[in-house]
Amino acid sequence: MNFRIIAKDLAIDLGTSSIEVYKKGEGVVICEPSLLVLDHQNKAIKAIGEPAKDMIGKTPDDIIVQKPIEKGVISDFNLTEAMLNYFFQKINPGFSVIQPRVVVCVPSGITDIEKRAVEDASLHAGSRDVIMVDESLAALFGIGLSPEDPRGVLALNLGAGTSEVCLVSLNGIVASKTMNLGGDYIDKEIVSFLRNNKKIEIGINTAENIKKEILSLKISDKEKSMNVEGRDLIDAKPKRIKLRSEELAEIILPFADKIVDMIYLVLEKTPPELSADIKNDGFIMTGGLSNIKGLKEFIEKKIDLKGHVSDNPELDAIKGAGIILEDPDRFFKYKSR
Ligand SMILES: Nc1ncnc2c1ncn2[C@@H]1O[C@H](COP(=O)(O)OP(=O)(O)O)[C@@H](O)[C@H]1O
Ligand SMILES: [Mg+2]
Repeated sequence: MNFRIIAKDLAIDLGTSSIEVYKKGEGVVICEPSLLVLDHQNKAIKAIGEPAKDMIGKTPDDIIVQKPIEKGVISDFNLTEAMLNYFFQKINPGFSVIQPRVVVCVPSGITDIEKRAVEDASLHAGSRDVIMVDESLAALFGIGLSPEDPRGVLALNLGAGTSEVCLVSLNGIVASKTMNLGGDYIDKEIVSFLRNNKKIEIGINTAENIKKEILSLKISDKEKSMNVEGRDLIDAKPKRIKLRSEELAEIILPFADKIVDMIYLVLEKTPPELSADIKNDGFIMTGGLSNIKGLKEFIEKKIDLKGHVSDNPELDAIKGAGIILEDPDRFFKYKSR
């Protein structure tokens, strides 16, 4: 059995679709789906993370798939604890005399009770001290913003469970707007669209692939298409259809409009001295859903500001949480209380 005095400290992005873990001094060591598979009869855990995702849609009746995080917050405390414990053990296997300190990203809109649940789950899973930071702020540090920079920043954090627009300055989040709709919602909309309009039933993983492949707001992508396989709702046989990007406009356009509405609500609350910074610097998009093709350009056109997105926006938050973990004192005032 492994034995050590001090376990390595960790930073965690406990996301609705994926969990990322950063190990102090090393970098991001875990990036897996936030999922567990349980035995239907006795509720014993059969798989966690990547192997659990592979079972979705193909699972026999004696197995259930569970998401411990829904819409950015813990929906099942015990499963969250089990999942965290599993990943903690993967990184620091065996026994440690001194448990790790952990930095955890939380959505800025969550309540004190929800924060407490994150803290308790991390402590129960085997950490000695939990520092919570707003995910939107962590993501900004992840793309290179400095906590010492006094400028105002307009930041969008678009994840699987929530979409958030924040105005950030040296003192933290000045104004923000959150909605409980994100990538998971779009996946479900794609499933319903195909059910209602094409009479085909598809799995949620297929919907996510459609979103990543052909969902687009770019006019030039209109004719893009992909073959989609599922079950015919009329005769229950396997069915394949060709789906065009343009057909999904009725899903993505209203969603993109909602984001623009949130941005306007935040801009209305922006103090005049920060407005000039935003006019100059534009807005920053973080989170996996920022990958949607043409979304940045759509928002740029609607609000007449320039947008910026990193190469892997789903990793911005964990990179930032890692930066905080390496030098927590520098970020002390941004601790989410
Ligand atoms: N290339 C892509 N195109 C569209 N959506 C994407 C792409 N890559 C990831 N996503 C979506 O981004 C969401 C995950 O974003 P992430 O920031 O990791 O969220 P969370 O931290 O809540 O798990 C998922 O809904 C995922 O399907
Ligand atoms: Mg994430």
